[in-house]
Amino acid sequence: MEQDGNLIGQNMFMRTIIEADDGRTIPVLTMGPIGITPELKRKGYGKALLDYSLEKAAETGAGAVLFEGNIGFYGKSGFDYAGRFGIRYHDLPEDEDASFFLCKELIPGYLDGITGVYQTPQGYYVKDEDVEAFDKGFPPRKKLKLPGQIF
Ligand SMILES: CC(C)(COP(=O)(O)OP(=O)(O)OC[C@H]1O[C@@H](n2cnc3c(N)ncnc32)[C@H](O)[C@@H]1OP(=O)(O)O)[C@@H](O)C(=O)NCCC(=O)NCCS
Repeated sequence: MEQDGNLIGQNMFMRTIIEADDGRTIPVLTMGPIGITPELKRKGYGKALLDYSLEKAAETGAGAVLFEGNIGFYGKSGFDYAGRFGIRYHDLPEDEDASFFLCKELIPGYLDGITGVYQTPQGYYVKDEDVEAFDKGFPPRKKLKLPGQIF
């Protein structure tokens, strides 16, 4: 997302799968990170970018988007808890809180009759030491832990 030639926001999607309990492999998308430049937060740009990018994702024919996020923001764009669709998060014990794990069908009914486990695609896994090396290229900043932040 650009404003006056400056980058003010971004979002991305990646293909992944649900391993269905009946043995099928269900293609879905995952999403993120979505971000809006800090000085322009809470002005509606994030929701506009999210809704626009979901429309574009739907145009590719994808059936559903699943990912980790805060229902306070994503719920306004039609996301619900993935557990309500019968989809579980990989490696998360059944009794753990899964309220961070969200889902939106892009094709209504796409997940009807499906239960299974969502897999984060390999592209999202990074080595901590690679991240640290990359971050060293920027001026140092103090890491904060803010409400709604997962990591
Ligand atoms: C999350 C983010 C993209 C939202 O963008 P934004 O432009 O600030 O959001 P919007 O102004 O479009 O917000 C729309 C509504 O979503 C809700 N919302 C937005 N940010 C929220 C938050 N952090 N917590 C709870 N609700 C939130 C609010 O209800 C908001 O409406 P309101 O301002 O009238 O109350 C932005 O805050 C951001 O870049 N955060 C840092 C990166 C990040 O955490 N990305 C998410 C990774 S999963």
